[in-house]
Amino acid sequence: MAKLELQDLTKAYSRDIVPVKRLNLTVEDNEFLTLVGPSGCGKSTILRMIAGLDQPTEGRVLIGDRDVSRLAPGDRNIAMVFQSYALYPHMTVGENIASGLKLRHLPAGDIQKRVQEASGVLGLDPLLDRKPAKLSGGQRQRVALARALVRNPDVFLLDEPLSNLDALLREQVRADLKQIFADQKSPIVYVTHDQTEAMTLSTKVAVLSNGYLQQLGHPHEIYKTPANRFVASFIGSPQMNLFPLSRTGNDVVLGNFRVPLPAGVHSSSVILGIRPEHLRLPRPGDALTVTGNVFLVENLGMHDLVSLKVQGDPSLSLRAILPADATWSRENLTLALPPETIHWFDGETEQRLSA
Ligand SMILES: Nc1ncnc2c1ncn2[C@@H]1O[C@H](COP(=O)(O)OP(=O)(O)OP(=O)(O)O)[C@@H](O)[C@H]1O
Ligand SMILES: [Mg+2]
Repeated sequence: MAKLELQDLTKAYSRDIVPVKRLNLTVEDNEFLTLVGPSGCGKSTILRMIAGLDQPTEGRVLIGDRDVSRLAPGDRNIAMVFQSYALYPHMTVGENIASGLKLRHLPAGDIQKRVQEASGVLGLDPLLDRKPAKLSGGQRQRVALARALVRNPDVFLLDEPLSNLDALLREQVRADLKQIFADQKSPIVYVTHDQTEAMTLSTKVAVLSNGYLQQLGHPHEIYKTPANRFVASFIGSPQMNLFPLSRTGNDVVLGNFRVPLPAGVHSSSVILGIRPEHLRLPRPGDALTVTGNVFLVENLGMHDLVSLKVQGDPSLSLRAILPADATWSRENLTLALPPETIHWFDGETEQRLSA
């Protein structure tokens, strides 16, 4: 078993296209790192450089202190699962799973044993003799995962492996993945656009934007204490409400409402952030409230996603998640802002101010 280390990893496709800039990251054994960020921010490029499918412009890839930057993909002992799980159509499921091992000339007995293990874990036993054309999308994805698992790689790389599946199947395979990878010792680097996957599977999440690492941490840490405005707006769905506001004494003014700044904040302009799930109907004793007029209600089943225009400044709109069975009026709806759930960012640097 071996940790994966990226040192000053940089990729420039041209002078203007530099999706990865001096990236430093370590993924230890037993760690599950998820890369998230907007489309085009370099996630696949990072995986391809780790796998050896792309050459870094600068920097190094180390596996267990060994510099593999110059090694061919086949010499790195890395297993990669792509979004488009290219299976060999003329081979059966069993042969597909074994294909990587056959290339490495392992004894037939060993190959059979490993294929059986992986097929058992992924529930593929009844399908071993079928051809891929006769499988569902989810079954094909499991075959691609099994083919990666049997390899016993030093590092697992997965690039949006579930994005072709429908919502139900995604949930099921996500739960399977969690169990399968709980028994894996090798470092895992996973790419997804799905926040639930990132939150539930990862031990660490790396948020990327503009070629740079914006924040690295446990998924809950990133949700609770986003390091800057970008991370605050990117992590969490629906998005955090973010209001750029000017300072008036020790307060900021949000529509007709005053919100005191936390002690020790000296910025002349700030951004106040509050997640839709943290706004709630007021209870006696709530000191901080905001009132608005509702212009949209989206029913999400258990909850309503309610959009309001803030009283006193209709250019500000606010979204709140309220229980679907609650009663409230569309005019003059007052919501509480629990002070401990407010996030503060500097108006200019956009970096986090509150702890
Ligand atoms: N071979 C290439 N030549 C030039 N530019 C490229 C090449 N491959 C990727 N790029 C550019 O590099 C940037 C990063 O691409 P990459 O595929 O890593 O993004 P990504 O984060 O995986 O996006 P997505 O979420 O859409 O998969 C993009 O701007 C892309 O257009
Ligand atoms: Mg990609």
